Amino acid sequence: MNDESNPDTGRRPLAKATAERFASEFQDVDHTSATRVFYAPGRVNLIGDHTDYNGGLVFPCAVSSGIALAIAPRSDGKYRFKSANFDYSLEIESLEQLIPIAREWVNYPMGVISELKQLQDAKQSWQASGFDCFFSGDLPDGAGVSSSAAIEVVTAFAINAFAELNLSALELVKLCQRAENNFVGVPCGIMDQFAVTMAKAEQAIAIDCNTLRHEHVPLKLAGACFILANTNQKRDMAEAGYNDRVRECQRAIELLQPRYKIKSLAELEPDALASARDLFPDDDIAFKRTAHVVTENQRVKLAMAALQSNDMKAFGQLMIGSHHSLRDLYEVSSEPLEHLVKAALDNPATLGTRLTGAGFGGCTVSLVETGDVAAWIASVGAAYEASSARQADFFVFKAASGVSEINLDEMAI
Ligand code: GLA
Repeated sequence: MNDESNPDTGRRPLAKATAERFASEFQDVDHTSATRVFYAPGRVNLIGDHTDYNGGLVFPCAVSSGIALAIAPRSDGKYRFKSANFDYSLEIESLEQLIPIAREWVNYPMGVISELKQLQDAKQSWQASGFDCFFSGDLPDGAGVSSSAAIEVVTAFAINAFAELNLSALELVKLCQRAENNFVGVPCGIMDQFAVTMAKAEQAIAIDCNTLRHEHVPLKLAGACFILANTNQKRDMAEAGYNDRVRECQRAIELLQPRYKIKSLAELEPDALASARDLFPDDDIAFKRTAHVVTENQRVKLAMAALQSNDMKAFGQLMIGSHHSLRDLYEVSSEPLEHLVKAALDNPATLGTRLTGAGFGGCTVSLVETGDVAAWIASVGAAYEASSARQADFFVFKAASGVSEINLDEMAI
């Protein structure tokens, strides 16, 4: 991933390379004047995991790697999808052929188009004309940094722009979440699509996933920086575990509702946890999931307060508490993640560390004192390799902007 001082500088070269690939992949059609290029970043969640689909708080930011999309309309109603990152490509004759293809990346753009189709009068001209599109990304795949949300959002944003659909940013966010829920079949919350769309450079976003109210918070880290570390354990088996957690939380809500007037787990007050225990007589799992959601929600509030008062130590401690809760109560950690967290915690420059995203592999995010960051990476990397026999990749990141169009004709600044 890119580690530039301006968090958005990496998107222009990627966009340019994507436009060039687009031109060479689709030479049979003259797209020269109509091609437009868009970009959506990945995201890292700083604190607040598995709270979004429970109506809770999350605190993500976008990163300076992402997905670029070059796209141009056709005139014959065909759609062609290609990617620099995957061998699979797809051509369909019309939107009647939008059918999920087992485990293929094209389900993300197809899901978005399917949702747009349901929203829009079928006579809309973009649906009749079709288009060619080419995706290319520099996000690690399967690492839990939301490459799928980036593909969805860049597709929705691009069609919204070139077909002049006038959908608001929030409508696009919700549409992309529906695409993932309905077409891809993952019952995800709204955090990833929200972050990828709404992010601002050098700021994180606090999102209340119940009301969708959100606030951008400057990431002024007094003497510290965030480091993303990839365990390189692919999150291939994560889907089943994620679906189980969603179901367990639904069970918990049903057990709580006879006594508490709540629609989602995050609405339960932390003080009520102990007295709610008797509602879960034979369901320890559902209670543990509830305890995670309720305490994690509280930690997000405290972490934002810590950031506002420049208390990086307190922020770091809350990250560690979050990890323990995700490991012990929500049970979404993994052996490689534990090795990486332990390696970070053994280093005196670490203020906090936790798994980020859904878990079951993927990445950790650490808050580290900005003394000798290179030495930190070398020693944590060596300790991780010694204990897990895997190599980690490290990225010191700054918060980047959300989805945008990249105008390649403009002079780069
Ligand atoms: C995945 C989902 C999100 C969220 C996180 C866990 O990234 O897509 O909606 O639930 O896991 O916080």
